[in-house]
Amino acid sequence: MEFSIKNTNPEKQRQDCTIVGIYESRKLTGAAELIDAASGGFVSTVIKRGDMEGKIGSTLMLHGVPGTASDRLLLVGLGKEREFDARTYRKAVSASIKALKGTGAATAASYLAELPVKKHDAAWKVAHFAEVAMDVVYKFDRMKGKQHKDDKAAARALKKVVINLPREALKAGEAGLRQGLAIAAGVSLAKDLGNLPPNVCTPTYLAEQAQALAKSSGLQVQVLDRPDMEKLGMGSFLGVSQGSRQPPKLIVMQHKKGRKNQKPVVLVGKGITFDTGGISLKPGAEMDEMKYDMCGAASVLGTFKAIVEMDLPINAVGIIPTCENMPDGNAIRPGDVLTSMSGQTIEVLNTDAEGRLILCDALTYAERFEPSSVVDIATLTGACVIALGHHLSGLFSNNDSLARELLAAGEGAQDRAWHMPMLEDYQGQLDSNFADMANIGGRAAGSVTAACFLSRFAKKYDWAHLDIAGTAWKSGKEKGSTGRPVPLLTEFLMQRAAKN
Ligand code: BES
Ligand code: MN
Ligand code: ZN
Repeated sequence: MEFSIKNTNPEKQRQDCTIVGIYESRKLTGAAELIDAASGGFVSTVIKRGDMEGKIGSTLMLHGVPGTASDRLLLVGLGKEREFDARTYRKAVSASIKALKGTGAATAASYLAELPVKKHDAAWKVAHFAEVAMDVVYKFDRMKGKQHKDDKAAARALKKVVINLPREALKAGEAGLRQGLAIAAGVSLAKDLGNLPPNVCTPTYLAEQAQALAKSSGLQVQVLDRPDMEKLGMGSFLGVSQGSRQPPKLIVMQHKKGRKNQKPVVLVGKGITFDTGGISLKPGAEMDEMKYDMCGAASVLGTFKAIVEMDLPINAVGIIPTCENMPDGNAIRPGDVLTSMSGQTIEVLNTDAEGRLILCDALTYAERFEPSSVVDIATLTGACVIALGHHLSGLFSNNDSLARELLAAGEGAQDRAWHMPMLEDYQGQLDSNFADMANIGGRAAGSVTAACFLSRFAKKYDWAHLDIAGTAWKSGKEKGSTGRPVPLLTEFLMQRAAKN
């Protein structure tokens, strides 16, 4: 899909569809008023009949509106004008693009981005327009057979969207569009990797994707194999991987576009390409969804895609420990003690708490980059889904100012997180009779004790942990990867780059 930014008259647009907003209750926006005037009150008459109240997310498609040049006119409900903000703006954009699906409209002009949105400027509105629109039209049909690929629908799909802005905002809009499209490309990559089946998206496949990204950009990529990791003493990570036929990989990506001596931000992504639970086998229901257990890794790859496209002036390192968690004659057992790269020993009381076991060695490995901050991203605990549901990622940190930065980035990107507690008091739940610590802390506050476990490997730098177990994918009829938290992470790096 292509976007352009223009300053045009809505009644003169010659498009398959023109999109204008209606506030609750029944109040026309400026663009709707212009069309109403050109059409001799057509729009206000329809609205008076009661077909459109302006409720947020509602839509009404009109055909052959007199005095206008477009085939269709789409009215989009915006909710209460006083309450029109980032969330409702995105909802309205999403509803408008959804309403075009299956209509045969291939081109459209939208007058939503010119509306005032609380706290946000034209660049933000255009960036989010592009991100939301790309999110709505995203489709994953790579694994469908030829006869099931819907080519007819593809031919009729929306191809060109003109985003209208006031003349003085055009330049800012162009910059916003470039940003929005870079983030959308990152989100789309993260979604694809998440949605791919676990027999395709293996650790080796993820490593190849990182190498492909490097080929098409200035990114440096290095992939460590089992012997390299043995030399480094990554006994915890290798312990998890030993039950799988798929070789483990440690992917290291470096984007060096900041000042030479500037300390890098390090992102660490959990890359379990399939989590059976291991010997502590998971129940069968919905186990297929454990192909999404590499969404932390996918978000790191997606974020690097976005910052490469933006050519963001920052130093950033991505570290992805990736393997499978399988039951096998050679798999780790409950009761096994592993020695991590940090030298700390871990009693494995549950082989299904494997994410922390691969992340801890990656966190120790991160020390060598002398990072300004380290953020790990992981589908770490079912407990986080119980605590926060599917709207917010869980945020844990050993540094309040880093936590605030990430919360603000999530707010700006509308990819939000919630600051969770990580008090010293919880650490005792990880006591082990036989090793330095156990890998589980009991049922109480499961997402907190998981973070506490990681914190023991992140003492040498400012660190934050995002538990994305509830936000990385959707279940049920809409099953699919969300690409989160690529928008949050990219925004965080953009803010850092602006400060550096
Ligand atoms: N990948 C899972 C976490 C998960 C479960 C994410 C369900 C999303 C939905 C992780 O490896 C895991 O199995 N965690 C266990 C930890 C427990 C054994 C302490 C969990 O959450 O049950
Ligand atoms: Mn698990
Ligand atoms: Zn897992």
